[in-house]
Parts: sequence; C-alpha cells; structure tokens
Amino acid sequence: MGCFAFRSGGKSGSSSSTSSRPQQHPRPGARTPPAKSAPASTSSSSSSSGAGAGAQSNTKAAAASAPAAASSATPTRTIQELSEERGAQRLRVFDLDELGSATNGFSRALKLGEGGFGSVYRAFFRSAAGARVVLAVKRLNQRSLQGHKQWLAEVQFLGVLEHPNLVKLIGYCAVDSEASKHRLLVYEFMPNKSLDDHLFNRAHPPLSWRLRLQIMLGAARGLDYLHEGVPEVQVIYRDFKASNVLLDAEFKPKLSDFGLAREGPTEGKTHVSTAVRSGLQGRPRSRPCIMSLLA
Ligand SMILES: Nc1ncnc2c1ncn2[C@@H]1O[C@H](COP(=O)(O)OP(=O)(O)O)[C@@H](O)[C@H]1O
Ligand SMILES: [Mg+2]
Repeated sequence: MGCFAFRSGGKSGSSSSTSSRPQQHPRPGARTPPAKSAPASTSSSSSSSGAGAGAQSNTKAAAASAPAAASSATPTRTIQELSEERGAQRLRVFDLDELGSATNGFSRALKLGEGGFGSVYRAFFRSAAGARVVLAVKRLNQRSLQGHKQWLAEVQFLGVLEHPNLVKLIGYCAVDSEASKHRLLVYEFMPNKSLDDHLFNRAHPPLSWRLRLQIMLGAARGLDYLHEGVPEVQVIYRDFKASNVLLDAEFKPKLSDFGLAREGPTEGKTHVSTAVRSGLQGRPRSRPCIMSLLA
C-alpha cells in the first residue's frame, strides 16, 4: 500500500468535525497517548507497567547482544518499547476532519459493519499522485468504557506486527475535545468482508472447500506468526472469531482486531494471567471460527 500523502477524497462539506483540539500524539502507540488521562498499559506483564528508562535500556541491551536469537528464544521486549521504535515510523496520524470528510460525515451509506466497540466505514482518500485510495475507518464507540484501552492495544500491536495474514493498520486518530473523546483507526480495506459474512449470511454463496482450506491455512499462519514469528515478543490474540478473519480480493484471510491482545510471558516468567474477557458486548456473532469452516 506504500506511503500515501493523503488528502480526503470525500465529498466536500461532509465533515463531522467537532470543536476538537489538535492531536498531541507525536509517537504512535507510545505510553503517552493523546488522552488527558494516564495511558492504560496493554501489557499484562509486570515488566512493562511503569518500567523506567533504566530498566528498558537494560532490556534493550540484552536484546541487542543477542540479535540472532531464534524465535523460540524467550521474548525480551515489551510491546510498548517496540511500538515506540517501530509504530512511530509506520503509522500515520490522521486528522478527525479528514476522516469525517473521507467517510462523508460517517455516513450510514458507507458503513461496512458494526462490532462491540464501534462502527466501520468505507473511506475515500487521494494519494499524492491523485489516485483514489479506499480504506476502512473504525470509529470507536464513545460510550465504550474500554474504548481507549482497546484502541491503544490496537495501535501498539498493529504498529509493530507485520504479516500477510494480519490486517494492515495504516494509521489512527485521537482527539480529546471539551465535550468528547474520539478514537479512530484506519485500516487497509478488505473487499470481501469477513469470514463470518460468508459462513452465516445467506446473501453470500457457500465457500468452496478449496477456499475454506485456504482461509484455514492463512488464519493458522497468522496465529503462528503471533506466537512464534516475532523474536522479541509473543502475542496472545484472544479474539479469534469468524468476524475477525477478514478476506481480501482473492479471499486471502487476514486476522483483525487486536484490542484484546496481550503480550505473552517475558524473560524469567513462565505464564501470564489475563483479565477475564468482558468485551463481548452485544453482538451474538462471535462464533467459533475454524469449527464453523468445517461445518
Ligand atoms: N478493514 C476492513 N475492511 C473491510 N471491512 C471491514 C474491515 N474491518 C471490519 N470490517 C467490517 O466491519 C465489521 C465490523 O467489524 P468490527 O468492528 O471489527 O466488529 P466484529 O469483529 O465484532 O464484527 C466486520 O465484520 C467486517 O464486515
Ligand atoms: Mg472485528
């Protein structure tokens, strides 16, 4: 998808602009997100909660001294550290007005779907060369108490992780105005929607066995990458369901939604304990994924 110099390609006058202050977030996914409140760490390991600069540099030194560590080595970095290093370069910070314009004021006509944490819209931009670029914008529910934590986890994990079977996060937007907070995420657009749509919505013809197998293998490769593919950190996904397996133009699957993801155990620890999931708000669509494919 390359590097875009976006201009909104939405229809003019459609912005849902609020009287928002500009974003104050120069470092994407860092521990200093733009919210006024203290950032909620996404890490469940004690090593990342409030770790000082000294502790971090020790960890970095250890990692640097063993650069050729195999993926089976114990992870030594926190997602916060990795996010500050890599996410800052990879992710683009979007303006709220720009996203409002690109989605025609978050028009219902451009709505792609809705999950427990917000709605997803098709959004139109222009590349620097003037070509039309279609992306997907997720606007987190303002009522969701967990919204900021989920948003931060998504920015941190997807700012660092990169794999053909993970959805690509292009950038984000965070604005705190007097009246409200806004948290948005901008992804590559997945034209064939989710696996859930193809399995359970009768508007779509049944998937062939060949495609089912391709989707299963791709999803498994994505999970394998999360567990073993990044030498410095292991990722526990925690939200593997058919609606989070998105399908590209060739029905290649990409895992999405890292708002509930957690880091695996770091150096010296054998396990992590994660809070009981409480994020399944409403939607009765979270069906077991792989079993459904075989049904
Ligand atoms: N990047 C994307 N491209 C195209 N459609 C998407 C994208 N992300 C999400 N969607 C659509 O929006 C729907 C809602 O997504 P989401 O908010 O993640 O909730 P859930 O995963 O619970 O369905 C998905 O089921 C999918 O159809
Ligand atoms: Mg989802």
